[in-house]
Amino acid sequence: MNNSQNKSSQQSSPHPPLGDRSDNRGCVVHCPATIANLVCGFDILGLALEAPYDIMEVSFKDEPGITLSSSAAYNLPTIPEDNVAGASLLALMEAYEKPVGFHVHIDKQIKPGSGLGSSAASSAGAVVAANHLLGNIFSNEDLVRFAMNGEKVASGVKHADNITPCIYGGVTLIRSIFPLDIVTLDAPPLFVTVVHPQIEVKTSDARQILRKEVLLKDAIKQWGNIAGLVAGFMKHDYQLIGRSLEDVIIEPVRSILIPGFDAVKNSCKEAGALGGGISGSGPSIFMLSEHESTAKAVEVIMKNIYEKLGIDYKTYVTTIGKGGVKIV
Ligand code: HSE
Repeated sequence: MNNSQNKSSQQSSPHPPLGDRSDNRGCVVHCPATIANLVCGFDILGLALEAPYDIMEVSFKDEPGITLSSSAAYNLPTIPEDNVAGASLLALMEAYEKPVGFHVHIDKQIKPGSGLGSSAASSAGAVVAANHLLGNIFSNEDLVRFAMNGEKVASGVKHADNITPCIYGGVTLIRSIFPLDIVTLDAPPLFVTVVHPQIEVKTSDARQILRKEVLLKDAIKQWGNIAGLVAGFMKHDYQLIGRSLEDVIIEPVRSILIPGFDAVKNSCKEAGALGGGISGSGPSIFMLSEHESTAKAVEVIMKNIYEKLGIDYKTYVTTIGKGGVKIV
């Protein structure tokens, strides 16, 4: 399909809204927030959260091409190439090779620039929904490839560590990105506490400040932690998970952008959290706990720290999301 003929930036939906349920002309999806990196696994590890999630509606339209609209809260781009959902759908439509048209409405609950996989939720949601409407002709791996085009729009780089857990659910490892090699990981029940200080950190900026070279001694520590974390998940070994949540390469650079980071991390670990760190490229911080009571105590600590700092924040106490983007 020649996408250049099919671009449009109209805002009006060609169909009335679907409400909150899918039918044969359109579908409603819930697209989970995700935590990329999982501290030591920069660009290779990620997990899906049960909450928050974006709500998207994707419907067929009579004319080929893509139209986009979004809830009033965020001024999302309406030109498909500039919109993460649009760019991902364009990749899917190119692979489909037949004329087809979609209208996409995004009700964004995951704030852009939060470090909670906001762009991945829109990218993954769009292609999962379109694939559902087309009769599931593409594999999950194809969908990850399409949705990586959205990440390129958002951060300038095709990374898959938010996209993959968003589509597959649970905890995922990207063993290789080119060629794509996805490994889904088993994990024990875990509670996840997240604090999102209401400042914006652009992923592209947070990538730019990283050092391009790594000392061998740091690389060795990082390899040990990544292997330990994966083994900890697979063996359901909470203590090993906790010991492995250490990042000697990225966190020392990025944490400077996040007020209160050290206080949150140290106090939450003292309160019994297994460990945690920057969620994706920040500014959100996450902590993993074995017990819900600890996860809730950790939330109180996070709140107190940002109250004292006088910085607005949002918190979530949730669990690992199973199943990825859901058709509802
Ligand atoms: N791995 C990416 C980064 C995730 O840390 O830049 C962005 O959410």
